[in-house]
Amino acid sequence: MSREPRIRRIVEELSLEEKVRLTHGANDPEGRATGYVAGVDRLGIPPLRMADGPLGVRIPDESATAFPAPIALAATFDAELAREHGEALGRETRGKGQDVLLAPGANLVRVPHNGRNFEYFAEDPVLSATFAGAVVAGIQSQDVVATPKHYVANSQETARAAVDAEIDERPLRELYLPSFRSAVEAGAGSVMTAYNDVNGTRMSDHERLVRDVLKGEWGFEGYVVSDWFGTEGTAAAANGGLDVEMPGITMAEMQSAMAGDDADASETVDGDGDEPGELPDAIAEGMPDPESCERFADSLADAVESGAVPEERLDDMVARVLGVMDRVGLLEDDETRHASGDPTDSDDGAVDTPAHRELATRVATRGTVLLENDGVLPLADDADLAVVGPNVDEPVLGGGGSSETTPVVETDPRTGIAERAEGEVAVAHGLPRVEEVSMLEEFAGLDDDDENDPDGSGREPDLEGAAATAREADVAVVFVRDTASEAIDREDLRLPDRQEELIEAVAAENDRTVVVVNSSGPIEAPWREDVAAVLENWYPGQSHGNAVASILYGDVDPGGRLPVTFAPEDAYPTADERRYPGVDGTARYDEGVFVGYRHFDSTEREPTYPFGHGRSYADYEYVDADPDLEDGVVRVTVENTADRDGREAVQVYVRPPSVDGVDRPVRELAGFESVAIPAGERASVAVDLEDLAFARYGEDGDGWTVDPGEYALEIGRSSRDVRTTLRTELDSEFRERVRESLAARESSSTDRRVR
Ligand code: BGC
Repeated sequence: MSREPRIRRIVEELSLEEKVRLTHGANDPEGRATGYVAGVDRLGIPPLRMADGPLGVRIPDESATAFPAPIALAATFDAELAREHGEALGRETRGKGQDVLLAPGANLVRVPHNGRNFEYFAEDPVLSATFAGAVVAGIQSQDVVATPKHYVANSQETARAAVDAEIDERPLRELYLPSFRSAVEAGAGSVMTAYNDVNGTRMSDHERLVRDVLKGEWGFEGYVVSDWFGTEGTAAAANGGLDVEMPGITMAEMQSAMAGDDADASETVDGDGDEPGELPDAIAEGMPDPESCERFADSLADAVESGAVPEERLDDMVARVLGVMDRVGLLEDDETRHASGDPTDSDDGAVDTPAHRELATRVATRGTVLLENDGVLPLADDADLAVVGPNVDEPVLGGGGSSETTPVVETDPRTGIAERAEGEVAVAHGLPRVEEVSMLEEFAGLDDDDENDPDGSGREPDLEGAAATAREADVAVVFVRDTASEAIDREDLRLPDRQEELIEAVAAENDRTVVVVNSSGPIEAPWREDVAAVLENWYPGQSHGNAVASILYGDVDPGGRLPVTFAPEDAYPTADERRYPGVDGTARYDEGVFVGYRHFDSTEREPTYPFGHGRSYADYEYVDADPDLEDGVVRVTVENTADRDGREAVQVYVRPPSVDGVDRPVRELAGFESVAIPAGERASVAVDLEDLAFARYGEDGDGWTVDPGEYALEIGRSSRDVRTTLRTELDSEFRERVRESLAARESSSTDRRVR
């Protein structure tokens, strides 16, 4: 491997002990970083500081912008916005004096119950890969290292550290790997391995997927880091291609660091479990066993001395870490560093800026999906409203776990609406506050002191009172939510507690009832026909109130489209327990490539709301569409026929020809473009088509194929609302070009395999 001579020289100067020090986590003396690799002072190598996570920078006891969840970002169907979002995340990370952001989450949404779906983008590989790439490019543009995670097939939190995902090569290549490959192509400096096994091998030891595919085929030159306590054998991990073991400290040390100023680091940390220091069972089941984690600090030097890990492998591990540090400016000498702004300095001026606040609002607004509307929305400015819901006094910042954020400023729905409304606003909670899970507080042994809502949890249910408030209003807006967390999946897709009853009680009294759903992913909505409008508002972050008010009143057109299918839970392929949560420790991915809408399109089951669905306050006519396959684009002209400005997400799907003996999805998303179209105007949109949508991966591992025959390009508003279909025979030149370009992306031109 040709390494920068400078990096090679540094590696040569390091002692064995110093090399090992650069391959594992240690205690951050400042107690701020989520992960900390101690530097080597003697050679001017600074420490490397890593912070969680996808919804904003998390530092114990500090605040930063609490951005909307990635699933809300993906719902914008706007890759440029994703790039901007990544830049802001990177800027805040640097602003906090951290070098690495442990984001984005790049796992495909396979299981609707997954407790971390809000941290991921989509059920479709083209949408997910586009967003993963754009966010990574944005983060890295700020000289911050992005860490797409969790490589690969971390599709569930139930038994996430123990489950073996049994997956064939074809779905791996077509669905689960593309987001990571795109993140690597976009310049990610590191990749985090998943806790789970894939086909019988732990991902932190996975020679084939880490060493051969990620580093070999894709030419990834950065470092591969384990998920926290995710490694087992040192030699297996190092030889399999893992470069950095995390966190490198004990669970107790980590818990007390996470407790921040609120706990005495010398004390045993107390959770809600049966014994002091134990986590509640549900969370504990999703956690890796820190006892079985073999730490590089304890055993890598011996493994190298005994020859179990070749020294050149250790050198490669270190060179990868140093190479990434160099790329983000951490290895520049003092003088150059100071002249160009020391990247190790904190700069609070880059955190929570007006521009980031505005961006957080814009993404939350633009990602909101109008699922149903019988005309009640947008609201008249002077409408008298009933704002109903157990949690209307707090913004939904996110789910539980490593992505939990603390904003500097926030608006709850009640305040956001009251500020915008010109009519009366009456508020009714109807139910006790729906308690969210703070895995971090549980983990750190802190009690949730209910500071957000001093009276909410003990409140008596009062559905009648809520219904009476709704009766008096022109429109009732009911806010409902799910709860989700890392380490635990959702039990079902219904709204928790008595929120469905609350909706029905309000809808019975007011036929202009609007439901705003704040959820981590798909929910079941058996009440949907009883209400006048439904908005999916995800986990919108700190600007919850402002963002939802601007959609409700139509200040912004709802540009959001569903990045995941909504359906009853028994209609998903994962309703089979062999597939999810798995039987005898194995989750069989034998639905193959039929995940998400690919499944619903090939079965009799109808989705409640299909992939790509989302209504607008305007109306559109698809005027014409002109494919230019040589350039891989379709030019689409769309007219906004309404008398109000709108935002359309133009979607292009490919319907491949059928081939005997090959199961193929009915359609696959090939490209999308979000565009603002003023009232009465036309927009011409060039939609780039992704090669992936035209090709299939041979079942027997014989690589990519683009079948001959007639293809349909379906252009429209969702996977089920096709407005124009173009039929075309792909010429052999085009087919060969697509095949070659996919193959080239998987066969790095230089031999960058690990040694
Ligand atoms: C999560 C990662 C996270 C890490 C550090 C793990 O439990 O799975 O996503 O980055 O903790 O907090």
